[in-house]
Amino acid sequence: MRRFENKTAVITGAARGIGEAIARRFIREGGRALLADIDEDQLRKTAESIGEGAYPVFVDVRSSDSVAAMAKYASELFGQVDILFSNAGIMASSPFLETPEEQFCDVMNTNAKGMFLVGKAIAGLMVKTGVKGAIVNTCSSYCNIVSAGTASYSASKGAVLQLTKVMAVDLAQYGIRVNAFAPGFVDTRIAAKSLSDPNKVERLKSQWCIKRPSDPSEQAAVALFLASDDASYMTGEIVFADAGWHIV
Ligand SMILES: NC(=O)c1ccc[n+]([C@@H]2O[C@H](COP(=O)([O-])OP(=O)(O)OC[C@H]3O[C@@H](n4cnc5c(N)ncnc54)[C@H](O)[C@@H]3O)[C@@H](O)[C@H]2O)c1
Repeated sequence: MRRFENKTAVITGAARGIGEAIARRFIREGGRALLADIDEDQLRKTAESIGEGAYPVFVDVRSSDSVAAMAKYASELFGQVDILFSNAGIMASSPFLETPEEQFCDVMNTNAKGMFLVGKAIAGLMVKTGVKGAIVNTCSSYCNIVSAGTASYSASKGAVLQLTKVMAVDLAQYGIRVNAFAPGFVDTRIAAKSLSDPNKVERLKSQWCIKRPSDPSEQAAVALFLASDDASYMTGEIVFADAGWHIV
């Protein structure tokens, strides 16, 4: 498939994991993408290994100045941005009564405020250049279900769910669609600690209809569908790609 011929995208959290999988497939399908991440070393390696069509740039999604610089670079590089994959995120867990304020603030600043800042900057660029674009936010099953010890993360992904819907409503007048996908457990760095604990994996499997974690490429497939014209009648939607975890 070459669904993204002549299309440009900004992908945050693109140095590894789900963001990298999105970047690889988007570029394979004909697009050009700004790969944005806070981890410059890994980002450079990833962009080099993808090659043509991948443009690395540093961003800290918690900082409005850094996000503004990323948006300016995207504008200079591409002229216009057709698609935003707002994907950067972090995970932290601890029992509620032991959760430090710093952890809660850092997770909220990255996962929730970061998606607000990046969405505002890139949607602003789309509106300025008259692009009827698509925005895809990375949410999580934890926007809907919870596990013990996930106060910071679950609160942040609950915020992403509502932010996605409000963005869809407010940006509809400009022809911009906004959707999110909600992964369950994906085999990336974020999930590595849980997936290395056999007891935890067995417990989790009992809650999944599909008895394995997801490969990042399976999440990229959903993200790219939402960004493509195949999803032209969808906005404000949260698509769960979580092995049925949130329905059990
Ligand atoms: N892996 C899972 O099981 C899972 C499940 C549900 C949702 N998600 C979500 O998927 C998204 C991607 O996570 P992943 O699993 O690929 O994890 P990952 O750790 O492999 O990748 C996350 C990327 O985000 C980058 N990042 C972190 N903070 C940043 C910041 N302040 N500014 C810019 N970049 C930053 C990291 O450097 C990293 O490259 C996240 O939003 C995460 O919450 C992951």
